[in-house]
Amino acid sequence: MNSQRNSRTSLTKRIHTITVPLGERTYPIVIGEGVLRRAGDLFRKHAIGRTVVVMTDTTVARHHGAVLERSLRTAGHTVHTIALPSGEQQKSLAAAERIYTELLQRGIDRSATIVALGGGVIGDLAGFIAATYQRGLGFVQIPTTLLAQVDSSVGGKVGINHPLAKNMIGAFHQPRFVLIDPSVLRTLPKREMISGMGEVVKYGVILDARFFRFVERSLERAFAHDAAVLTAMIRTSCLLKAYVVATDEKEQHLRAILNFGHTIGHALEHAGRYSALKHGEAILYGMVAEARIALWQGMIDERQVDRLEQLVNRLPLPSLTPLRLRSSALLTTMMKDKKTLSGNIRMPLPGAIGSVQLPSVVERRFIEQAVQHLTVYGA
Ligand code: NAD
Ligand code: GLY
Repeated sequence: MNSQRNSRTSLTKRIHTITVPLGERTYPIVIGEGVLRRAGDLFRKHAIGRTVVVMTDTTVARHHGAVLERSLRTAGHTVHTIALPSGEQQKSLAAAERIYTELLQRGIDRSATIVALGGGVIGDLAGFIAATYQRGLGFVQIPTTLLAQVDSSVGGKVGINHPLAKNMIGAFHQPRFVLIDPSVLRTLPKREMISGMGEVVKYGVILDARFFRFVERSLERAFAHDAAVLTAMIRTSCLLKAYVVATDEKEQHLRAILNFGHTIGHALEHAGRYSALKHGEAILYGMVAEARIALWQGMIDERQVDRLEQLVNRLPLPSLTPLRLRSSALLTTMMKDKKTLSGNIRMPLPGAIGSVQLPSVVERRFIEQAVQHLTVYGA
């Protein structure tokens, strides 16, 4: 698809605005180096009420919290900050309950706006709180990881994990706007950049061969924090996601293509107890495995699968050997996946780089073969 539509760029200020068109819930994604310092202006423009609750984690708060708070206070907001420890464990009902208690104790009412300043964990959790506290508060996303800037902050999926499976409890709750400042990525550890690149690669594979080529060409410049390259990667990923979400907000059909790599990826995350692999690392492995399944099903040719593997090879990933992968255990996890229907494991599979098909049922033997492939590929 052509990812250049639906984007306005102000050359003087180098701020890009992408619209997510969802009727009365339409919202902008504003992307620009240094825009975090000007957050207050955007809050004013969107008539965000006086009280804002910034939910963040302690690492992000240390690097970027003060800049945001200063800008919001200067714009006249009363700012409450809730900083949690970082980590996937925070996406839990127990953490949510502690936050509800804190909001009640601070007298936060329905006029307040919840702001997520952080990665996908904070975005998903803060969005879940915003969707449920007092039956719903306004919500703003300020993503600070590459993964959150290219994917999780857009589209309104919010939620928490259940001990038995990931992202099992949640809602669709769209933000009022998304503010993306690529310069905050300079403090992000390299491993987190690699994880975010997993979702960037995914957008190329599923929707845009030209973008895939751009990622192949520009990978090293992105890791060197070349502002133009990173902005282009974030912008194109957001444009592609905005298109999918606008077409199918509640994942009745097209949105399911965003789950390429995620059926096996989520099972790998589970096998590593959500600590051995970062989300995007698991998705990179998941895409390699699921592309092989597409090959065995006769949907894609080997050269294209090799091309994906060659790109993934350039992204250092943790070895899968310590996970002692067993296909029976992975299959048990996949049976609990939201995408599994009536006991049939389904996944979107690519027909070529840049083109994916809606989820279809995959035979058990192919999944077993894919796990076998991963034990060698990821050793
Ligand atoms: P994360 O939120 O755990 O952040 C990773 C780490 O980076 C944390 O330790 C954090 O403290 C640190 N960090 C964040 N920003 C930083 C910065 N600018 N400088 C320095 N350190 C920084 O991980 P993530 O990869 O962003 O998100 C993963 C989560 O996103 C998973 O729970 C996944 O399920 C979810 N997700 C949701 C969607 C969605 O559509 N809602 C899509 C994809 C992934
Ligand atoms: N990351 C998958 C989705 O937003 O639908």
